[in-house]
Amino acid sequence: MSSHSSDSMPAVSRSVKDLRENVSSWRKHGLKVAFVPTMGALHEGHLSLVELARNKADKVVASIFINPRQFAAHEDLDTYPRNETEDLMKLVTAGCDLAFLPDAEEMYPQGYSTSVAVDGLSRDLCGLSRPHFFGGVATVVCKLLNQCQPDIAIFGEKDYQQLLVIKRMVRDLDMPVSIIGGPIIREEDGLAMSSRNAYLSSAEREVAGKLNRIMTSAINEIATGADIQVTLQRATNTLLTEGFDRVDYFELRRKADLSFIDKGTLPAAQLDTARLFAAVIIGKTRLIDNMPLSGT
Ligand code: PAJ
Repeated sequence: MSSHSSDSMPAVSRSVKDLRENVSSWRKHGLKVAFVPTMGALHEGHLSLVELARNKADKVVASIFINPRQFAAHEDLDTYPRNETEDLMKLVTAGCDLAFLPDAEEMYPQGYSTSVAVDGLSRDLCGLSRPHFFGGVATVVCKLLNQCQPDIAIFGEKDYQQLLVIKRMVRDLDMPVSIIGGPIIREEDGLAMSSRNAYLSSAEREVAGKLNRIMTSAINEIATGADIQVTLQRATNTLLTEGFDRVDYFELRRKADLSFIDKGTLPAAQLDTARLFAAVIIGKTRLIDNMPLSGT
């Protein structure tokens, strides 16, 4: 079985067999199990999901696995921040009972050859500049959910498109788990927390904080009847003049299926159906964010 938990460390499983033994013994006792998958370098955004899991279930499992299949060759797999000991201490404080830390060989043994692809949704927004990404995410999340077999699994709205892809996969493949979204946790200046924020120099970090303000103004303008196309274009120009190097996308979409809302104005009755999505590049770092149009 897994190594024992202490006050400062949760129990740790490194094999699927060990994870399954723990979870199945809980489930035999009628306990509800929640699961929070992560890639580590944990911040308050991740920990808020563990706390949400704690409120919704009797036992909480969190995984840390930097999934090579969701990184392209030119991306940051090798430099992605790794802090195992600190992460484990944070997990236990947030209420995690068991940490699952498989290595790449446990996840993708020799001869591994299966992929999960969620068509349509995966080819849009982030999928356009990162075509490998959602296939890698769907594959590892499908495996993680099968490995852990939780009652519920929690994902952040920070990666809203990822959340929709996972919900669609679970529905399409009849996986017996409820997927729950958790709200975006932000720094004081509004920058959405992200493990990749650690890459920003202090000058870049200052620029990054402006994304929230520019998104909020665009939302307020659209919500009070401004032309959608004009507002999005003006905000994109502002991002570039305020110091962002590139805007990958800055778009209004329907929150249910990511379909475009790009013409005319948005009627008040439809505010709740829309979300603003942004991906911007500063130096070598790509940041994503999204916000609802109504307060919900
Ligand atoms: P990672 O980027 O580590 O994020 C793990 C979870 O934390 C995701 O569900 C993500 O949406 C959520 N999260 C990140 N920043 C957040 C914030 N500021 N507020 C709220 N939630 C936040 O997303 C992944 O890992 C991977 O793709 C994964 C799903 C683990 C598959 O490999």
